[in-house]
Amino acid sequence: MTKKYIDLSRKIGVLGGGQLGRMLQEAALPYGVDLFFLDNDIKAPCSLFKDNFTHGSYKDFNSTIQFGKDKDILTIEIEHINADALEQLAKYDKLVIPAVDTIRMIQNKAFQKKFLMENDIPSSAFTVLDSKSIAPELANDWYPFVQKSQIDGYDGKGVVVIESAIDLSQQLNTPSILEKLVDIEKELAITIAIEQSGKTHLFPICEMVFNHKLNLVDYLIAPAGIEEKYIKKIKSISTKLAKALKSPGLFSVEFFLTKSGAILVNEIAPRAHNSAHYTIEGCNISQYEAQLRILLGLPIPEITIKGYAGMVNLIGEEKFIGAPYVENLQLLHEQGDAHLHLYGKKETKPGRKMGHITVLNASRAKLISQLKWIKESISIKS
Ligand SMILES: Nc1ncnc2c1ncn2[C@@H]1O[C@H](COP(=O)(O)OP(=O)(O)OP(=O)(O)O)[C@@H](O)[C@H]1O
Ligand SMILES: [Mg+2]
Repeated sequence: MTKKYIDLSRKIGVLGGGQLGRMLQEAALPYGVDLFFLDNDIKAPCSLFKDNFTHGSYKDFNSTIQFGKDKDILTIEIEHINADALEQLAKYDKLVIPAVDTIRMIQNKAFQKKFLMENDIPSSAFTVLDSKSIAPELANDWYPFVQKSQIDGYDGKGVVVIESAIDLSQQLNTPSILEKLVDIEKELAITIAIEQSGKTHLFPICEMVFNHKLNLVDYLIAPAGIEEKYIKKIKSISTKLAKALKSPGLFSVEFFLTKSGAILVNEIAPRAHNSAHYTIEGCNISQYEAQLRILLGLPIPEITIKGYAGMVNLIGEEKFIGAPYVENLQLLHEQGDAHLHLYGKKETKPGRKMGHITVLNASRAKLISQLKWIKESISIKS
């Protein structure tokens, strides 16, 4: 039986107070729901919500327990949190979404790769390295490969490409995994929304076009320009993955389409994701509204997209450190259905994600030229 009444007054605590939390709060405003955030950066994007912002570390057991004990529902906007604390809070009958075991599995790239292998989900060949350095004999068996830190990686930090012995000095000196270097044709991503009932929804597949220097997405487009057979494959892998995750929540899955036509899962994130920011204006329901609905126990409608949607990250320019401004913002209106999202970060630094711009267009070709114009013309300086 469906519930007649959903209690919107329950207190929702979010571990992390970055831009993903801030956009979740934006989606929660029309529901009259105020979220609570925990972050140890006093200037974090969610510090704007002063009364609902707790300054403390989500990596610390006691701070997390302290933060969570008067909340009804707990969720995350970053995976690098103290899972023991969340487990304890779940024992105090707090509703924790996603499930703690699922977060634990995703937090560690070695566990994540084993999970993919055990569930027969295609992904690149790998080996787990618990020692801090790569023995040259082992490296010989794996060239060319990608070394990834087992924990705490983000935005390409904690990932190095090692093509041959010359690159071995670049290695991360930390427990890691080595993955075979994939010959990538395209990088793709999908967001999966799993309701508390288990009902699963897939957002459109998006295509990420990378800035290889910074290892960050340059722009992305949805729906992805790929053949129908790849769309089917990605959807079927995602549906299988959703079952294997055994948890409600919002998940983002990154894929590689290889030059030889294989679809491989790169990684899973147990939260809202950069690759689905376009859903805010591009879809009938955004990834954030979907996340909120999952937390509240509200059903999610069938997800649809309005034509083509694209997104450009606004990343701090090289050489500029300080209070940010958006160069050429006054020209953005010429791009029509274009939408600015700044994250309220007080300081720009080279490579820092400061915001993004979404653009909608019925024509994919026109959209791409708009995205390129934005990429070239609009920048974050100080
Ligand atoms: N096995 C691989 N073969 C080739 N390139 C790879 C491989 N693994 C990762 N990469 C490249 O490195 C990028 C970053 O890797 P990954 O997504 O694992 O790291 P991350 O830091 O967790 O990512 P994010 O930027 O999503 O936070 C990928 O998007 C891809 O471009
Ligand atoms: Mg990634």
